[in-house]
Amino acid sequence: MAIDKAIWSKITLVDGDITKQNVDAIVNAANHTLLGGGGVDGAIHRAAGPELLAECRTLGGCATGSAKLTKGYRLPAKYVIHAVGPVYNDGHHGEPERLAGCYRTAMDLANQHGCTSIAFAAISCGVYGYPIADAARIALTSVAEKLAAGGSVEEARFVLFGQPVFGQFQAVLDELAGV
Ligand code: APR
Repeated sequence: MAIDKAIWSKITLVDGDITKQNVDAIVNAANHTLLGGGGVDGAIHRAAGPELLAECRTLGGCATGSAKLTKGYRLPAKYVIHAVGPVYNDGHHGEPERLAGCYRTAMDLANQHGCTSIAFAAISCGVYGYPIADAARIALTSVAEKLAAGGSVEEARFVLFGQPVFGQFQAVLDELAGV
C-alpha cells in the first residue's frame, strides 16, 4: 500500500522521555502481566503513580502482539496504552506480525477513544532485543497505514531514548517517506 506524503507528515520522531509528552495517549512497552517492569514500563509507572498499577491489576494481563488502555493518572497524557511486544528470537517465529499487532491495536484503541495525538515508545527495542531498523520499519509502516485509513489520530510521535535508536528510526522514516 503506497502511503501518501501527507500521511508521513503526521509522523514525528522525538529524542526524549515519553513520560513528558503532552499527547492524548502514550504507548508503553509492557509485558504480558501488565504489572510493570524496568525500562520504559518502569519509567511510565513511576511517573503515573500507584493508581496506574492498581488499574493494570484489573485487566488480567494482555497477550503478546496486543495492547490494553488505562488512564494516565499523574502523566500529562490522558491515557496509557500498554502494548506487549514480542521477545525477538530470529524473526521467523511470528515476531514481525506480533510487533505490527502492537502498533495496529494501539492505533485502534486511540481512535476508539477519540485521541488526536499519540506517542509511541520503541516497543521490543530494549530488553526484548528486536533489531532496531527492522522494528522501525514495522512500527512506522503499521502506524502510517492506520493513519491513512482515517480516524481521530492526527499526530503520531515516536519518542526514542538516545541517539542510536533515534538515528535508526530517522533513517528508516526518510527511506519510507521517500526523503
Ligand atoms: N522514554 C522513551 N523511551 C524509553 C524510556 C523513556 N523514559 N526508557 C526507556 N526507553 C526505551 C529504551 O531505550 C528502548 O529503546 O524504550 C525502548 C523499549 O525498551 P524496553 O523498555 O526495554 O522495552 P522492551 O524491549 O519492549 O522490553 C519490555 O521490559 O521493562 C520491561 O516490563 C517490561 O518485560 C517488559 C520488557
